[in-house]
Amino acid sequence: MAETTLVADRTGELRMDADAKEARYAEVAAHVAAVLAPERDLLSAMATMVCLLHNAFPYFFWTGFYRRVGPELLRVGPYQGTMGCLDIEFGRGVCGAAARERRTQLVDDVNAFPGHIACDSASASEIVVPVLGARGELIAVLDVDSTLPAAFDETDRRWLERLVALLADKESLPVVYVG
Ligand code: SME
Repeated sequence: MAETTLVADRTGELRMDADAKEARYAEVAAHVAAVLAPERDLLSAMATMVCLLHNAFPYFFWTGFYRRVGPELLRVGPYQGTMGCLDIEFGRGVCGAAARERRTQLVDDVNAFPGHIACDSASASEIVVPVLGARGELIAVLDVDSTLPAAFDETDRRWLERLVALLADKESLPVVYVG
């Protein structure tokens, strides 16, 4: 297990070949699983997962969670990257589609996706993975954007779906203590 945060080199080629991607996910997933195992707090777990993922992959430009805060409303959660939109309704954009359909959305070209929300025009492709709680209810989505077109594939889908499953047993504890 890595003892420190794995930080990818973003100064050169951002795209990773299939073997490099697979190896990097295996390494990061082991680190995430080990760090999250004793953690109960959902928000801390989300923040930690975002940090480890975002730093590990050079093609991740925006990495973060949108939390479900209403029957059909997502609100931005822990993220890394440029400023994200704060609120997204179910059905709007790629995140809203993932939330409504409860299915991972793999978008090679965000400009071709009807209703895509351009929080940052530098984003070219994205993957959005639904996050389910212990009872199978939708609690959030994980959104990863890239400046590269068609940056995400089945390898990203498989690993990211596996990673967000680690959040199912976390608890939505009070954000701060109000004494
Ligand atoms: N790309 C998303 C919006 C969120 S941001 O890109 C951070 C979408 O269309 O759902």
